[in-house]
Amino acid sequence: VGSNKRIVTPAELALHNTQKDMWMCLRGKVYNVTPYQDYHPGGIDELMKAAGRDGTALFDEIHNWVNVESMLEKCFIGQLEISAGGAN
Ligand code: HEM
Repeated sequence: VGSNKRIVTPAELALHNTQKDMWMCLRGKVYNVTPYQDYHPGGIDELMKAAGRDGTALFDEIHNWVNVESMLEKCFIGQLEISAGGAN
């Protein structure tokens, strides 16, 4: 199974909300940002605000021009499951 076939549910995403194990959804894609934390110019505390959640809005407020898809390519886990209502 290719990595882009993996579907992550919001419940699974929410389990990874600590500094030692941090996942984040950005633009529908879930990343394991644990290894990236130390390299974030904005610091770990900023990342913690979106740990285990969809961080797209916070991300875009600060730096919507940052190419997260390429920067976190190796941290990509899978697509976030789209809820039945279409909103997530
Ligand atoms: C700065 C990447 C998530 C808040 C930066 C910069 C990069 C970056 C490249 C430097 C921008 C510059 O050159 O000016 C990322 C990546 C993220 C991420 C790859 C995905 C995990 C977030 C989130 C927040 C955030 C979720 C807010 C909750 C900030 C802040 C700065 C910053 C406040 C400014 C630091 C400063 O200039 O003092 N980030 N970021 N970042 N980021 Fe992020």
